[in-house]
Amino acid sequence: MKVLIIGSGGREHVLAWKISRSPRVDKIYCAPGNAGIAQLAECVPIGAMEFDRLAAFAKENKIDLTVVGMDDPLVGGIVDVFEAQGLRVFGPRANAAILEGSKAFSKDLMKKYNIPTAAYENFDDPASAVKYLETEAKFPIVLKADGLALGKGVLICEDLAQAKEGVKEIMEDRKFGSAGARLVIEEFLTGREVSVLSFVDGKTVKTMSSAQDHKRAGDGDTGLNTGGMGNFSPSPFYTPEIADYCMKHIFQPTVDAMAQEGREFHGVIFFGLMLTADGPKVLEYNARFGDPEAQVVLPRMDADIIDVFEACIDGTLDQIDLKFRDNACVCVVLASDGYPVHYEKGFEITGLEAFEGREDYFAFHAGTAFRDGKIVTNGGRVLGITATGDTLKEARRKAYEAVEWVRFENRYFRHDIGKAIDEA
Ligand code: AMP
Ligand code: GLY
Repeated sequence: MKVLIIGSGGREHVLAWKISRSPRVDKIYCAPGNAGIAQLAECVPIGAMEFDRLAAFAKENKIDLTVVGMDDPLVGGIVDVFEAQGLRVFGPRANAAILEGSKAFSKDLMKKYNIPTAAYENFDDPASAVKYLETEAKFPIVLKADGLALGKGVLICEDLAQAKEGVKEIMEDRKFGSAGARLVIEEFLTGREVSVLSFVDGKTVKTMSSAQDHKRAGDGDTGLNTGGMGNFSPSPFYTPEIADYCMKHIFQPTVDAMAQEGREFHGVIFFGLMLTADGPKVLEYNARFGDPEAQVVLPRMDADIIDVFEACIDGTLDQIDLKFRDNACVCVVLASDGYPVHYEKGFEITGLEAFEGREDYFAFHAGTAFRDGKIVTNGGRVLGITATGDTLKEARRKAYEAVEWVRFENRYFRHDIGKAIDEA
């Protein structure tokens, strides 16, 4: 088989790695890819939003399966474009990717189908949002831009003044662009967060092993929200009892609700959950693998991922034996200092050869490029240094050991990824 991956981050690198392990696959392409993906795939310089060029490439090169990693093309309808041309593609159509593309949509869906989530209101104009804040809100409170905002469109506001400023930033200044045309204001929840990724074939849902992300930029969960600074899998707090509850009250009901609404979901649903004192609640849905969740979950997966992708497309997921190893995995993101706001790029990265030939250490490339024969930094998140181990503690020790193998100017990382492991 020939497989095309769409995207250019650490998630797409681990996807390329996992796909490369399928005996069914002869050749992998990635558009646009990065310097790490280039070791496993032929990178094609076509942007992830250039749907017509991507589809033409897939036709010309007789691609058997296209796998879309990123949210923007999914929400923008890349799957519909490919399907209309008879191309096989893994991912939700636009009418299902809206589960991630509109937070107002997903909140209304959860309300309608009694899926546990934070109480909320949706707003189309800033004046009514401010009025609500002045009259009915309890603080702290959470403001969410409706649309896609690279995981950064969520503001937690301690008081009325901050919340009013937040409404202005999101809806008037359009800090997150058109994502801020609508606003969700929701109840602040407390508890442990857990990410559960799942494969979905329109009716059946099979979960992958759980993970816990670290979204804030700084140690001790300080600083701005980022795309994710590192994580670990499995979450020791996501017990089999909680998993059963979630399957019954959250996962299957979500998949059924989407089908009921005429929006049959095929692909990956990523459930962002908060384990509150009142039980697990949905913080957010994503319509794709998480980044860096994929980096800690896929190295632990035993099944041939091509079989799973095809089962999701064909509606035969019930026949797949989805197994995860009884081990653990930790990923520490090496970022450019200043991420997620302002940072410089183009610094040479050294030390990557230390990962070669090892089965339990990975340097998944997020933002890297080639320049003059060297690998250089090319993004806010640069590398996901990842290690597997028999236990979470061992995986964490190995991941931080490997962090020291890699050097580049302005290297920045969190020192406390997996701190929660000690509380388990
Ligand atoms: P989201 O993009 O919706 O996952 O939000 C990003 C992060 O904001 C989450 O991972 C949580 O840490 C936090 N967050 C989102 N919604 C809430 C909420 N209702 N209560 C508390 N924290 C939240
Ligand atoms: N790591 C969070 C996300 O992929 O949205």
